Amino acid sequence: MNKQFFNPNPEFAKNARVGSMEAYHELMNEAKKDYEGFWAKRADEKIDWLAPYSKVLDESDAPFYKWFIDGKLNVSNQCIDRHLADKGDKTAILFEGDRGDVEKITYSQLSQRVNKFANLLKNRFRVKRGDRVVLYMPMIPEAAYAMLACARIGAIHSIVFGGFSSEALKERIKDASAKLVITADGAYRKGKPYLLKPVVDKALEGDIECVEAVLVVQRNHEDITWVDGRDYNYCDMIDDESDICEAEAMDSEDPLFLLYTSGSTGKPKGVQHSTAGYILWAQMTMEWVFDVQGDDVFWCTADIGWITGHTYIVYGPLSAGTTTVMFEGVPTYPDAGRAWKMCQDHKITQFYTAPTAIRVLHKMGKDEPTKYDLSALKVLGTVGEPIDPPAWKWYHEVVGQGRCAIVDTWWQTETGGHMISPLPGATPIKPASATFALPGIMAEVIEEDGTPKKIGETGLLCITKPWPSMIRNIWGDAKRFKKAYFGDVEKDGKPLYFSGDGAVIDEQGYITITGRVDDVINVSGHRMGSAEIEAVVKEDDYVAEVAVVGRPHEIKGESIFIYIVLKQEQEKDMVKHINNLLSQNIGNIAKADDIVIVAGLPKTRSGKIMRRILRSIAKGEAITQDISTLEDPSVVKQIEEAVKNS
Ligand code: WT7
Repeated sequence: MNKQFFNPNPEFAKNARVGSMEAYHELMNEAKKDYEGFWAKRADEKIDWLAPYSKVLDESDAPFYKWFIDGKLNVSNQCIDRHLADKGDKTAILFEGDRGDVEKITYSQLSQRVNKFANLLKNRFRVKRGDRVVLYMPMIPEAAYAMLACARIGAIHSIVFGGFSSEALKERIKDASAKLVITADGAYRKGKPYLLKPVVDKALEGDIECVEAVLVVQRNHEDITWVDGRDYNYCDMIDDESDICEAEAMDSEDPLFLLYTSGSTGKPKGVQHSTAGYILWAQMTMEWVFDVQGDDVFWCTADIGWITGHTYIVYGPLSAGTTTVMFEGVPTYPDAGRAWKMCQDHKITQFYTAPTAIRVLHKMGKDEPTKYDLSALKVLGTVGEPIDPPAWKWYHEVVGQGRCAIVDTWWQTETGGHMISPLPGATPIKPASATFALPGIMAEVIEEDGTPKKIGETGLLCITKPWPSMIRNIWGDAKRFKKAYFGDVEKDGKPLYFSGDGAVIDEQGYITITGRVDDVINVSGHRMGSAEIEAVVKEDDYVAEVAVVGRPHEIKGESIFIYIVLKQEQEKDMVKHINNLLSQNIGNIAKADDIVIVAGLPKTRSGKIMRRILRSIAKGEAITQDISTLEDPSVVKQIEEAVKNS
């Protein structure tokens, strides 16, 4: 199947914004010829400026690039106000609850609710421009209102995924020094209520001084604790606010939001995104990659706690004036047909999900899609990890009925939006390849010294020119920002943005992502830092040493594999113990599938742990690396034995 091309559906291509490879090359050449002109043209066309920018790109303080200097705008204007004249009655957010409850929120209703919310933040909580607001929210419309309300008054939101533990939440609240936390009592999952507010209560215990108040949306009306003078009930307050709140004129470069993500070292990084560049690319990629048009109904199944949810549930679809679906539940409840039933019921035209979800839905119900009318679907998308050929084939044949383009979109929290992806009306698709860089994005596969890799050779995936929606900084840590993204690869004396991924380019120029080359593990499309997990385990009293690696997993893509050396022999169930620790300190997503107790770790004479060897053993591969340079080569045999017996 690998050599085979899947050409765009001609019917679809006819009306697509980019309808042929010629059109793609034309756009790309336009960008190559006059890079700043290319972006200026789009910024002029797409953005409702409150005041014009005076300069397109400022590279004087590289890698702290700045875009659309002096321009003024507001992202909530871009996503709401400018649509009101002709799309006021169009559904902006189509919400489906876990239990099947549906609510359609029009653009005018969205406007009213966001304005009220913005006034509430401003008047009752004194939230000002530049203040940080942490959101710990379920997938309910109020989460989107809160994001847009922050944008409207110029506050910087930082969403923490609802699966993170109180410890992880605390760390993020403190790092951002947030003034307000917005949460909900809880929500519903698999037919049952679950709670979020108690996690916030726990996170705020002890030494958090920055947080002045907690605003609670009541979703499931479960019994929760209210702290007098700190906790406020959104539902009681919101009706008193006016639905007119003038949008702040934000600077192009003002931060729009922070989003914490894991790296290969240290604690999570607060990825800082900008206002103008981010929203421009969110909108452009909605238009190019998903080609949303007219009455399309777009469904991205991500959680708003991840970048995919930010860009492709809220900011991208709404700036493009489309209808975006927000789903509270899980696609396998009440059965494996739920997602397909929703596609049928809401006549979904573009469906965007992760390979891990495709594998689960395939495994649990390979014929389920055939029971529903999926004829509205035009484009199917994947994101988060490489998609394997069997999953691709099923997605294409059974879900897409051979008719839909599959856009395998490569990007990252740091890139803000898609970077490498097929265009559904133009690109002949090779399964499991992200194909080509989008127009305006300069991607190269190179060696550390900047030399391009030969065809077929795996190299480092770099972006060689700044782009509007790129990360601007790591919150509070400019040094780490430079080191983490611009510290590894240089070309002509200039540091390049290195993604942390490996990739390979074939004879036809197709780019295939091979996965992370650093110590980041991709579990079900979620990024986990091995160093972060190790730091938690190391704290444990029983543990002398620890090493964490990823191991290929049939459904999750990768799973977490932990090697530990104990201080002394234990009767205790260490697997349970360590996983409890991880779930408390990070969240359930950090739990390991394998925890193996070993006598020692493979180290070089300078004391560096050879994770490569540990990865091979976890995979069950024979060791081909030279182990003679290890401090104690015999440790390898012992580890292999321990893994076999575990
Ligand atoms: C990492 C970024 C971007 C939203 C989801 C994850 C991997 C992402 C693909 C793809 C192969 C992919 C990369 C990347 N990744 N998309 N289409 N094919 N790998 O965001 O948590 O920032 O993770 O996800 O390894 O670096 P993230």
